[in-house]
Amino acid sequence: MSAPDRPQAVNLPEGWTPGSWRTRPSAQMPTYPDPHALREAVDELRALPPLVTSWEILALKQALAEAQEGKRFLLQGGDCAESFAECSSDVISNRLKVLLQMSLVLVHGLRLPVVRVGRFAGQYAKPRSADTETVDGVTLPSYRGDIVNAPAFSAQARTPDPRRMIKAHARSAMTMNFVRALIDGGFADLHHPEYWDLGWVGHSPLAEEYRRMVAGIGDAVRFMETLSGSQVHNLNRVDFHTSHEALLLPYEEAQTRQVPRQWGWFNLSTHFPWIGMRTAALDGAHVEYFRGIRNPIALKVGPSATAEQLLRLVDVLNPEDEPGRLTLVHRMGATGIADRLPALLDAVRREGRRVLWVCDPMHGNTEATSNGYKTRRFRNIRSELEQAFEIHAAAGTRLGGVHLELTGEDVTECTGGARDLTDADLARAYRSTVDPRLNYEQALEIAMLVVRKQAQLTTPA
Ligand code: PEP
Ligand code: CO
Repeated sequence: MSAPDRPQAVNLPEGWTPGSWRTRPSAQMPTYPDPHALREAVDELRALPPLVTSWEILALKQALAEAQEGKRFLLQGGDCAESFAECSSDVISNRLKVLLQMSLVLVHGLRLPVVRVGRFAGQYAKPRSADTETVDGVTLPSYRGDIVNAPAFSAQARTPDPRRMIKAHARSAMTMNFVRALIDGGFADLHHPEYWDLGWVGHSPLAEEYRRMVAGIGDAVRFMETLSGSQVHNLNRVDFHTSHEALLLPYEEAQTRQVPRQWGWFNLSTHFPWIGMRTAALDGAHVEYFRGIRNPIALKVGPSATAEQLLRLVDVLNPEDEPGRLTLVHRMGATGIADRLPALLDAVRREGRRVLWVCDPMHGNTEATSNGYKTRRFRNIRSELEQAFEIHAAAGTRLGGVHLELTGEDVTECTGGARDLTDADLARAYRSTVDPRLNYEQALEIAMLVVRKQAQLTTPA
């Protein structure tokens, strides 16, 4: 099919359609009890407007291509999972503030433009280790994120409800709308980073260092304006992109569209979808879906991935070696990265494949405490990230970004960090229904760490 204003789909992968994933084994998908209700919800979703545009998607792809060349650094972060209940003004703006502050630290310290991508406006589906959960002899479907079912342990809450997809789309649109309005209104203006202060942080041990950086960048902006005699407009405007794990394929398919004056298909529910570690099988439904969309995409790479598997995935997902198309997010764990990563880096480099390497130091470092919390130790997160920089430097490849789970709320979910939170502190403000997130201070500390590590590696000893 080619409408007069739609260029021929020159590169459309063979045999691919937005629904061709249905012919493949699909992991992590809920079983909806009522197929008719599912069809109705998907049809409704198909008719709703998209959340992003193809030109934003292609602009991000270009920025990621530049990151692959070492000209930009990717900062990707947000909740493990968004929840419908936390689609609120404070949560959204605080998360934006943290990401803006981190990007300011990175821009200032790395002397590179930062590509900012939120894990938000669609991060509502979660992979689970088991399909069901049993409590006191009662077995129910696992909670798979608010787009599928609800966390409470009752048959009603846990039954997958397709209407939740419509609600997730609406919540994503509200989040997107608010983020866009804040940015258009000057919230992200680099002239006024003082707007991004989070009240509870005043006494942080990191506050002083951060304030010095803010003053430094304010001076730099004014200096450039003095030189050029005009306002630094491209510094005024901060671009923000969205990403989520494209796990629930009926939802993703319904948002996969053709647009005028472009060939091929775009997932218009987000700019930058990723394939999670548990759904990265070469012959699986998710890889099939992803190979046909034109968005830039990311693939999580876990400790069990072999070089051979990874190269085959790279071939399927980016057969033309298109710039900006493929980001590989390794998440090995602090104790696994030194063993696992080098062979993958070598293989991809040997084959001359173009990828953006990004480190997720969160998902390989999850553990349970003796008092029953799922946590991550800051020292392990930090260690994995530091090792990642060193391993890339030794391999002659480049670590071009970080992928983090964080929040702007004053939570206590990961231990350690500047305030040295202990296991006993976790009870105070543990809010995540899924993975533990960095709080504001811990997130800022990671940004400072990236800057220090990079400086250390590029300054001759
Ligand atoms: C996640 O990013 O929340 C996640 C589940 O990651 P992974 O697929 O790497 O385990
Ligand atoms: Co997570």
